[in-house]
Amino acid sequence: MSTNEDIQLKEPNKVNEEVDDVTKIKFFGGHEYDGIKELDNPLPPWLKYLFYVTIIFSISYLILLFVFKDDSIIQVKEYRKEVMAARAKTEVAVKEEAVKTAAAPMTEEQILAAGKAIYDKTCLVCHGKFGEGLVGPNFTDEYWIHGGRPEELKKVIIEGVLDKGMISYKSQMNNTQIDHVIGYILSLQGSNPPNQKAPQGVKN
Ligand code: HEC
Repeated sequence: MSTNEDIQLKEPNKVNEEVDDVTKIKFFGGHEYDGIKELDNPLPPWLKYLFYVTIIFSISYLILLFVFKDDSIIQVKEYRKEVMAARAKTEVAVKEEAVKTAAAPMTEEQILAAGKAIYDKTCLVCHGKFGEGLVGPNFTDEYWIHGGRPEELKKVIIEGVLDKGMISYKSQMNNTQIDHVIGYILSLQGSNPPNQKAPQGVKN
């Protein structure tokens, strides 16, 4: 036996074209291995046509994508469009909110409440819970060291009286906040709380 024949035996046997008795289908004429023969069996039509459809679909898709550059199938474009739309919506909402806030100025009650919130947080420790005075002077009497007009209070709050222990609030509060707290302090005039600190300064 030649070496060539040895190799031939190990390969699958060639099957000549012939018709299968059971299925009446022509052998592919390809291979038989361990008694299993390869048939020349056509695809079922539904599968074959589905396959054609996918080919047509992919070609049309590529044409739309690269030739007509159709927006609706380019995802990046679609994404950008959505983001722009969302952003525009937010901008409108922000503008509307700004108009609303600007159109409705704070009522006196709201101003006093805002001022009280700042006072309780920042000023109460030295000027007392009710403005009765503690380390700092009494805000409920008619006596003022630096004057009782709003602009005089403002000057003290902005500049502070550093050598007397009143610090400057210029960097901690904005103009509106200062105005609110001044409004609150002046609203305490004549409220006559207990444990008042003795008057300091001059009456005005
Ligand atoms: C660390 C203590 C301290 C804190 C906190 C403090 N003050 Fe004063 N404040 C003083 C002292 C002390 C004086 C008196 C200064 C002087 O003798 O000239 C004063 C004076 C003032 C005056 C002038 C009063 C007058 O009779 O002319 C105003 C107004 C004032 N403070 C507002 C505020 C406001 C508003 C806050 C909070 C944002 C605040 N202070 C927080 C200690 C303080």
